[in-house]
Amino acid sequence: MRPSLFVTFIGAIAALAGLLFGFDTGVISGALLFIQQEFQLTDVEKGAVVSAVLFGAFIGSLFCGKMTDAIGRKNTLLITGVLFVIASIAAALSTTVWYLILCRFLLGISIGISSFAAPLYISETAPAKHRGKLVALFQLAITVGILFAYLIDLAFVQSGSWRWMVGFGVFPAILFFITICFVPKSPRWLLFKKRPEQALAVLKKIRSHHAAEREFELIKESLSFHKASWRDLFKKWLLPVNIIGLGLAFFQQITGINTIIYYAPTILKSAGFANTASVLATAGVGIINVLFTILALPLLDKIGRRPLLLAGITGMGLGQFALSYVFSHPIDTPFLQSLAVGGMFLFIACFAFSFGIIMWLMFSEIFPLEIRGLAMSLSVAMQWFFNMVISFSFLPLIARFGESGIFLIFGCVCVCGWIFTYFIIPETKHVSLEEIETHLKKGERCINLGQKIR
Ligand code: BGC
Repeated sequence: MRPSLFVTFIGAIAALAGLLFGFDTGVISGALLFIQQEFQLTDVEKGAVVSAVLFGAFIGSLFCGKMTDAIGRKNTLLITGVLFVIASIAAALSTTVWYLILCRFLLGISIGISSFAAPLYISETAPAKHRGKLVALFQLAITVGILFAYLIDLAFVQSGSWRWMVGFGVFPAILFFITICFVPKSPRWLLFKKRPEQALAVLKKIRSHHAAEREFELIKESLSFHKASWRDLFKKWLLPVNIIGLGLAFFQQITGINTIIYYAPTILKSAGFANTASVLATAGVGIINVLFTILALPLLDKIGRRPLLLAGITGMGLGQFALSYVFSHPIDTPFLQSLAVGGMFLFIACFAFSFGIIMWLMFSEIFPLEIRGLAMSLSVAMQWFFNMVISFSFLPLIARFGESGIFLIFGCVCVCGWIFTYFIIPETKHVSLEEIETHLKKGERCINLGQKIR
């Protein structure tokens, strides 16, 4: 059975936030060259233009966790939509570099907030059986956004118009804002806010009559009206899910994904490729990222999260070891050059169907309702933090350890990620969010949180 058209539609609308995330983080690599020419940037200013979005996303996800619980998932997404539109236009019209940095920071804030509000909203409206592929639409949208950014950069590279590159984000932002007005509020949040009639009405819109009433009772049973605070987040019974959240964030980022997403042309150039070949191979990275995310969609709810994670991180490790091997030699043979591209493509493909898609999915599944917004925002913020650390330190680390050394380190982190996944990550395919919560309250270990209750 497929999810209903309406549920898929509202999932796709919320997932548009991912497209803005991918676009605004990806577009700067091509625009930077021209921004630098216009404003004569110093190294510090250059770093600030690139990283303002990451820093904004970290701050946005860390400090706005309570917002989704207080004003609701849908209203939060509406606010981020407005911010996306304003900040995209303002960035394109920047007259000084610090003004541009401020706009990129504001864009980062909306990316940070929507990066936990959107998957959260989708997981709370999706039926348990199809939750995997519906939440995964968010990651698919991120990959499409990154590819879209590469293409927009290419389209304006001749004219050198960085304002169009940066400003183009306003079109999906407007679409996001308008369409989000039409989605219903999360039924789980409505119940949490003691509005049972509205919650049931929404459920009846997105489920069959019978399924709606059953789900309504299930949510009611597991609900507690306790108002969550930061302190609650660190209580002992939540330790297993915090470990899972932090581990997924760590391994998604510290295995080196964004060194490839942001620096692919730089890496390829040091592997001896000419400019055009590097740009083409970079576009290849974008396309493979999208394709393998699409491939994973139907598999998530069929073969499950754990097998995909384990297979994915194995391939990611092999990709990194291949890159390390290539760079430990003088790269003067076609074989070594092909191995460089092959290693990169293998890494991206395997990331796309595993940690790329599953981290966001699990973030939206594992935390109990009463603390879901806040807890998810913490894990998402940690993900942004690790992203910042790697993006900042990659070039200095290359200077210190050399390419071969740094890819070897990433490969070893993949090995640790495999061990972590094998012993800690539960299988959450087909279990309801409430079943996961019941296990947590009983004090089950991480790995057992996804068992079905009969
Ligand atoms: C990650 C981003 C990354 C993107 C690549 C996302 O899941 O969080 O940091 O750039 O995947 O597709």
